[in-house]
Parts: sequence; structure tokens; C-alpha cells
Amino acid sequence: MKIVHISAECYPIAKVGGLADVVGALPKYLNSSGEYAQVFMPFYNNKFTQENTFNTIFSSEILLGETPYNFNILVLEDSTLDFDVFFVDVPNLLFKEYVYSFEDTERFLAFQIATLDWLLTWHDYPDVIHCHDHHTGLIPFMLQESFKYEALRYIPNILTIHNAQYQGWFPHNKVHLIPAFNFDNVGLLDWGGTINPLAAAIKCAWRVTTVSPTYMEELKENANGLESLLSAESQKCSGILNGIDTNVWDPETDEFIVQNYSIKTVNKGAKANKKHLCEAFNLDETKPLFAFIGRLVHQKGTDLFPEIFKNALKNKNLNILLLGSGDPYLEESLSALKTEFEGNYNTYIGYDEKLSHIIYAGADFLLMPSRVEPCGLNQMYSLRYGTIPIVTKIGGLKDTVIDITEPNGFGFCHNSTDITEINETILRAVALYSKPTKYKRIRTQIMKIDHSWHASAQQYINLYNTLN
Ligand code: ADP
Ligand code: GLC
Repeated sequence: MKIVHISAECYPIAKVGGLADVVGALPKYLNSSGEYAQVFMPFYNNKFTQENTFNTIFSSEILLGETPYNFNILVLEDSTLDFDVFFVDVPNLLFKEYVYSFEDTERFLAFQIATLDWLLTWHDYPDVIHCHDHHTGLIPFMLQESFKYEALRYIPNILTIHNAQYQGWFPHNKVHLIPAFNFDNVGLLDWGGTINPLAAAIKCAWRVTTVSPTYMEELKENANGLESLLSAESQKCSGILNGIDTNVWDPETDEFIVQNYSIKTVNKGAKANKKHLCEAFNLDETKPLFAFIGRLVHQKGTDLFPEIFKNALKNKNLNILLLGSGDPYLEESLSALKTEFEGNYNTYIGYDEKLSHIIYAGADFLLMPSRVEPCGLNQMYSLRYGTIPIVTKIGGLKDTVIDITEPNGFGFCHNSTDITEINETILRAVALYSKPTKYKRIRTQIMKIDHSWHASAQQYINLYNTLN
């Protein structure tokens, strides 16, 4: 089966969060299962595109309303990736140093139109078009409704919702940017009086998936306004838990970390990574190290950190290291705590892939007090590296972490994002750390958990098969 993934992000080319990890891994696993998966993504002006050479295989022009834009389809000259990537280059709109910005309506509309215009020129159409998030959410609508894409209309297409908080809204006065369609059906674009690409995709895609089964259920109750739509469309919706790329995320071979280790050598190996972190960030190596890695946004519960950290650090019996960026106010208040808790607390405000790997390897516990977590990959990486996750019992976190008090449990779950409850959970983790035998047993237990993409990729293949 030929499967085309269309996405704004793909690791290692352009990554803001977990969407990139998924689109950089699932196609690999589909290919190793005998399918033929390709990725279409925008051509950004970033490190990856600057360091590689590309060949142009197609050039043409799209119209956004009345305005023409040139576009090219590029491929890597010497690809070392495990799947084909087609880069959609719209120089005036997409070729920026960033992935997301304020003009995303035009940028991602151009991406989607150029993608479909190019697909129209293919002799062998794909068997499945797989769209990811709202940036590609108008594709199912355009396939179904736009006159110029009639030839592509019968290609099965699916939407995966990685995060329903972001929906790509834009006003109706921009509807003319979408290639001409039967205007009687303009309602398919609308949700709540505005154009909503995610809602349009939920209505028009042949199937809709979310990145964990629990998140699918939660969306019927809490989907930033799309609850009733998701309930109405529930027949075609299902949740498939993300996997992780166990070749990229492997403590035995990871080139980013300070010392590699296996299940057998985890105590020594993780300790070497912890030592490095403690030296680099002036932390106390003899105390447990709690870490956070991620976007500093409301969804992740990070606005609760200043208070949680103050409570947790007052006895100086633990360390906290935070790697992240986002809300500037929060960046500042989290940095401000450094003086008060010098020697036990530090931050790296920014994005650093290498440091994230060292933290997964060297931390003892990983904090994830998310309010919403469609899947969450961090907890799965931390499990693979022997770092015990502390999570809110929601979404994908609920599907992947079992509290230590339950049968076969290995992590720490708090039922809510109540600060007192989170601090109590941190204390439970400190108590575990003070029992080295049990702590080490859990560490080896979690490293054995298999979250590789094999099982989930097979679920996608089964889904694609139902459409062909
Ligand atoms: P989300 O996609 O909602 O941000 P996920 O848990 O699915 O959350 O994935 C986040 C991914 O981004 C992980 O690979 C994580 O390690 C990475 N990441 C997030 N913030 C940073 C950062 N500041 N530096 C390095 N990696 C980061
Ligand atoms: C989103 C979600 C995250 C998920 C990721 C990959 O960014 O916030 O929970 O793991 O997509 O699917």
C-alpha cells in the first residue's frame, strides 16, 4: 500500500514537539512492515535544509485567491532517512526559520493546495492520504468538495488528531483562498460561525484517529468546542496509541548521552549521566533528580510549577532541572527561582535535543503534570531510559503509566492537577528513592516495557486496509 503522510513537522527535519517524532517514526515502521510510506512536508529555512542538498523534481504555481505563488517539490539529494520525503517549497510563505507563526492560514493553505496540485500530476495515486492535525485539515474537505481535485476524490483519507486544542480557525472572509467548491456545502468548513480546519477534517475525513484511546474518549467531553462533533462522528473515530522510535531512543546506542547503558548496566550508566547533569547545572548528585522537558504552556500544567517547586524544594532533599520554552512570563518566573534554590534547582530555557536525551538518561524522575495530554511521548522515552514518570492520570499518560500502588505498577499518577496532590506525589517518589533496592527494581522493570511502534503501526495498517 502506498501511504502519503502530510504534516507540518517531521523529525529530524523540523520539530516543535511530538508530532515530529510521530511523523518521523511511523513511516519507518510502516515501511519495515512491507508498506510504502512517504512524507510530504513544508520546506522551511532551518538547520536541516541548510545542511542538505535538494533537487527540484516539479515546479508550478498555485493561486491563493487571486494571488499567484510559485512552488517547487524538492527531494533530498542523498537521503539517509528510512522513508521518502517530498518537500513542498513555497518560497514566499513557507521558507522561514520557524514552523508556526501568525500567518499560518495562508502558509498552510498554500502547503495543502501545492500538495494536492502536485498529487494531481501523479500517475499512480496513493492508496491512503494520512493527514496530521489542523495544518492539513482542509485536505479532506478539498478532496471531497473542490472541483479541481475531483480526480483525487476517491482516495481514502484519514485524519490523526494530535492535539484538538489547536484548530486553525480563520474567518469566513478568507474562504475565497480555498480552491473553488460547491458553495452549498460551505457549512462543512464551519464550526461556531468561523472556518475551522480541524472540524472540517473531522467531518470530511473517511476515518479519524487520536493518538491514544483515552484521549479519544476524553474529547467527547472536552475538545475545545468540538465535543458534540466528535460524539456525532464517533462511528469513524478511534484511538491508536503512539509508539516511540526505539532506534533513535535507545540508551545502548544513543550518541547524545554521556554514557550508554543497557538494562543490566542502568545503575552505572544512568549515574554517569546524572553526574554530568549535576555538574553542568550545579545540582546535588546525592539527592534524587526530578526533571521536566517540554513546552511551557497551559496544556502541560507548567504554570503550576513555581508553587510546586517552592514546596518541593524547601527541604532541599531533591533537585529539579527544567528544560523548556514557551510562555515568556513563565520562563521568567521559573528562572527567577534559581537564586532561591541554588544548588538544587536549575533551568535551561530553550530547545535542546541533545540535552533532552541526557536528561531522560540522567534524571531519576520525570514530571508531567499535564492538564491535557493526547498521548505524550516523554513518559515513554523516560521509561525506556529507566527514569520513572510522575504524571496526571489523563489521556495517553493514563494509557501508559500505572501507579506503583497498583498491580504491576511502576510510576506515579496524580488524579488531578491540584498542587497539594502533585507535591504529595513527589514525596511518594522521594520515599521510593530512599529504598534503593526497590527503586532499582522498578528502573529495570520499566526499561523492559515495549512501546516501540510495531504494534501501533500494525493498527494503522489494519485501519488503512478497511478503506481499500
Ligand atoms: P508535545 O508534542 O505536546 O509537545 P510530546 O510528549 O508528544 O509533547 O512530545 C514532545 C517532544 O518534544 C519530545 O520528543 C520531547 O523530548 C521534545 N521536547 C519538548 N520540549 C523540548 C525542549 N525544550 N528541548 C528538547 N526537546 C524538547
Ligand atoms: C501532540 C500532543 C502530544 C502527543 C503528540 C504526538 O503534540 O500534545 O500529547 O504525544 O502530539 O502525537
